[in-house]
Amino acid sequence: MPHQIDRNRAHELSPRIDEALEIVCNEFAGLDTHQQYRNAFSRVLKPDPLDRVMMMGTDQRDLFIPLLRQTIVEHVPVGGHIFDIGAGDGQTFAFVADAVPQGTTVSIAEPNPGYLADYVSFLERQPHLHLGVALQGGVEHLDHGATDSATEPPAEQTVDLALGLHMLYFAADPQVSLEGILRLVATGGVFFNVITDELTGFAGVVQREFIKAGGDPRDGERQLAILDERRRLLAPQEEGGGGLAPALRAAGIDVAVSAVRQPSRHYGHTLADLLALAKLNLADVASPLNFEIAAKTLRDRSEEIGLRIETDGPRIGMWSVSAPQWVTRVRRNGG
Ligand SMILES: C[S@@+](CC[C@H](N)C(=O)[O-])C[C@H]1O[C@@H](n2cnc3c(N)ncnc32)[C@H](O)[C@@H]1O
Repeated sequence: MPHQIDRNRAHELSPRIDEALEIVCNEFAGLDTHQQYRNAFSRVLKPDPLDRVMMMGTDQRDLFIPLLRQTIVEHVPVGGHIFDIGAGDGQTFAFVADAVPQGTTVSIAEPNPGYLADYVSFLERQPHLHLGVALQGGVEHLDHGATDSATEPPAEQTVDLALGLHMLYFAADPQVSLEGILRLVATGGVFFNVITDELTGFAGVVQREFIKAGGDPRDGERQLAILDERRRLLAPQEEGGGGLAPALRAAGIDVAVSAVRQPSRHYGHTLADLLALAKLNLADVASPLNFEIAAKTLRDRSEEIGLRIETDGPRIGMWSVSAPQWVTRVRRNGG
């Protein structure tokens, strides 16, 4: 059993948490927000030196990949069409590419040109796949059908499987974006989405506290409302979700939705790693206040955010905090 850090132990750890705070503030000082996000994200993407797990910094991928493989097998026909939105550099898709049927077209949308180029080059090396649309742009470009580049998104109702793998955080209006995505999905096709539960996960708890402390330069109230909106639309009904099917129906799109919770976590070799992970939800703020709030959260709310030390498995000896995710599958019915 992992070793849970209770309230008393967390307070005994105070000097180590303070030391971690100093280390992480030193590391991030003077970096712009892009560099800060990159340094934080590198903790999640830490490769396992012995190739035992996908990533040392999180088991989010390990948990959703089996469901994604199953969805591909069930819903992508030979010669079908996958559209990966907020696609990244193709690292995640590479874990399922062998399950994709012969002759499938894979389209991608990704605002970061470097990631887009890496993903395109990965697809060009897969003899069983065809490269479809490669759109340099974000999910908001699907809302209006207008893009920064000359490329258009796939046509309406042509996609057998649309993917939103930890990307919907970037949608300024999640409901509008979800409508835009589902309009592209063919009858019988599926949208497969994964996002972190920011109500109970460590990074989300820190984000909420940071906004309440006035640290977010954007409209804090609006940011809090968007967190709630994502839960309302994408969480299972028993967790305050279930809102997507009626919202889409009101927009003339008939769907069947199933959502599950997965008890994923974020892992760090040091307490400084955990503090840095708090940046994941605060990509465009530079202030050290986010790390201060993260340190306070580890110390005062260790039980709520599931602070623990792994005592077996490939991550033995690592710290971890809760980062549960929701996997939501949205099947488009006729009409
Ligand atoms: C956490 S990564 C996930 C990448 C990929 N889906 C995966 O699972 O490996 C989030 C991705 O969203 C992209 N992104 C940033 N802004 C976006 C936007 N407005 N719309 C869609 N994606 C966006 C980032 O560039 C990044 O590649």
